Amino acid sequence: MSDKNETIKCPQCGFLNPAGSKFCNQCGSPLLSPSIKKDYFSLATKHIPEKLREKIRSAKFTGERKNVTVLFADITGFTSLSEKLDPEEVTELINRCFESMIDVIYKFEGTIDKFIGDCIMALFGAPITHEDDPERAVYTALNIMDALDRFNSEQGTKLSIHIGINSGVVVAGGVGSNLRMDYTVMGDTVNLAERLMEEAKDEILISESVYKKTSHIFETIECPPTKFKGKSKAVKIYRVIGIKEKPLSKRRLAELHSELVDREMEIQKLLHILSDVKKGKSAVALILGEAGIGKSRLIEVFREKSEKNILWLSGKSYTYGENKPFYVFRTQLSSYFGINQFSSKSEITKKLHEEIERIFKKKSPEYLPYIYQFLSVEIPEQFEGKIKYLDPKHLLLEEFVSIKTLLSNISHYNPLVLYFEDAQSIDAESLELLNFLLNGLRNSPILFLFEARPEKRTDFFSIKNIIRRIYKKRFTEIRLNLLSQSDANTLIQNLLETTNLPKKIKTLILEKSEGNPFYIEEILHSFIDEGILIKEDNQWRFGKDITSFEIPDSIDAVVRSRIDRLPENIKDVLNKASVIGKSFSYRILSFLCKTNKLDAYLHYLEDHEFIELKLYPGYKSNTPKPRVQTPFGIEFQFKHNLIRDIAYKGLLKKQKKEMILKMLLKITGV
Ligand SMILES: Nc1ncnc2c1ncn2[C@@H]1O[C@H](COP(=O)(O)OP(=O)(O)O)[C@@H](O)[C@H]1O
Ligand SMILES: [Mg+2]
Repeated sequence: MSDKNETIKCPQCGFLNPAGSKFCNQCGSPLLSPSIKKDYFSLATKHIPEKLREKIRSAKFTGERKNVTVLFADITGFTSLSEKLDPEEVTELINRCFESMIDVIYKFEGTIDKFIGDCIMALFGAPITHEDDPERAVYTALNIMDALDRFNSEQGTKLSIHIGINSGVVVAGGVGSNLRMDYTVMGDTVNLAERLMEEAKDEILISESVYKKTSHIFETIECPPTKFKGKSKAVKIYRVIGIKEKPLSKRRLAELHSELVDREMEIQKLLHILSDVKKGKSAVALILGEAGIGKSRLIEVFREKSEKNILWLSGKSYTYGENKPFYVFRTQLSSYFGINQFSSKSEITKKLHEEIERIFKKKSPEYLPYIYQFLSVEIPEQFEGKIKYLDPKHLLLEEFVSIKTLLSNISHYNPLVLYFEDAQSIDAESLELLNFLLNGLRNSPILFLFEARPEKRTDFFSIKNIIRRIYKKRFTEIRLNLLSQSDANTLIQNLLETTNLPKKIKTLILEKSEGNPFYIEEILHSFIDEGILIKEDNQWRFGKDITSFEIPDSIDAVVRSRIDRLPENIKDVLNKASVIGKSFSYRILSFLCKTNKLDAYLHYLEDHEFIELKLYPGYKSNTPKPRVQTPFGIEFQFKHNLIRDIAYKGLLKKQKKEMILKMLLKITGV
């Protein structure tokens, strides 16, 4: 902690302010608190990746309520260093150690909230919510542990670290200075994370809320419940010990299961495409639909129904750190060779060698080095010469050609399905390879199967039109729609294995989910958590009445992460529209938005499927439906009630009040 008499230099104008000032007495800019070590902050700022830097800069700190995961990490062992080394060396060592931790936090798109002594407080979900913030926080913690181990063995130090993670609602915003944010935190979310860190000994402790959202990925051990100061109840704590060798699916609830509802037509279509592919020509199928609508599930059932001699290679794309160049292809090929992150070096070399020899026979030395190179596997000495002298461009081309030949050869043994999950997030390098393969493998029995969210203006969407042009009739796009009321009903009945649902509850689920299967499952899951649904004698029964409906965290995260990825001006328009209601007219919205780009912004929101034009119902689908006109111009509506609810929930009461007042004054012409 710093000296009480220290003055604080304003980062904007350089004025020296008395200790304790929160804002500059000269220019009014927010000041860093003196307890924060300046060194760490400049370190943190220096290391922010450019993409994140932009997001933080453009985020307005007007304050919002949101779910955030808080990570506290405290390093111990510096004191013993100070006895052995001179102060300058210690500082340098500490900085280097922090640098490696900061890098990890940014890799997973966390933000550094503050440094307190030798402790870092990081946030996941602010200013940008991701669908998987708790996962990111735990991955970060495990990576920090690894980074520290490496650091200790390199430097001969014996530093140790303890980490606490908790997630919950906070009110974020207020004081923002450059690339750093201060969050006024409501509730106990932050306190509990800090308590967990204090409790931890050279380990990672997580709260129950984090455990519930991450237990499908991480191995944990339940610790005895602990009572913290000022709390009446003991808190459940879990220790994270690693990543599960076979992660479970997040979406599939252990307790609830349904066979596939509807989608028969889509399955038949896919089976038909595949039977054509088997005749020897490649094809492309794209399954499009919003998050949770059932793309992956449809493909899973398609896979089960497809013939056994077809080889499936699957890979997923992510929006964060995991998404290294060629990630999706590397996953597909690794699964082909039967290797993964847990395989030993000798196992990897053996498997690759054997399989490549089997596929390429005598020609194997021609391709082997490049496939090794592509998979980042150490190249055997005798082949090193093949790649050593190539410039990067040539080397990459050789890798592309080798992969193309590999896939073509494999497909002649077994027809292939190359499955790209969440293709809207595919990395630029993979897209390049994809383009190359789609062109080069037209006469091989390969089905390129993509699953993507309809996010226009992504790289994947731009290449989609190119693919369509190349593949013409061999390109099929399947758009998945929300389940109809009766199908949604069937799904609920299947999941609960009962037709005896109180009408009120059924109506509520149908109304809130609007036929999105993921929403239906998550709402039921939250009913189980809250004791509204209870299992007795292997049967679900309704335990207590529903008094109020809380949007489940999992749905909140999916929708909020989409909202947070909007450019700030457009997010502002969406927020304002949410105050008006599920549907809103153009002119009333224009009263609230001070922009001359409203048309363009609304267009953007339509393109990204947040809102749609409201049309008169009852017209046949093949005739254009007239738009709904009101005295206040055309009407728009939110694509889902939940999008509106979640945007609205994120606003502070004060903001909502101000907007409603402004609207009323305009409408009544006062
Ligand atoms: N037609 C369906 N019938 C039964 N369950 C479904 C159906 N569609 C989706 N689900 C379930 O809903 C959840 C979300 O589906 P998923 O395929 O993961 O969505 P997406 O890939 O579109 O994001 C999964 O648990 C899935 O099993
Ligand atoms: Mg999916």
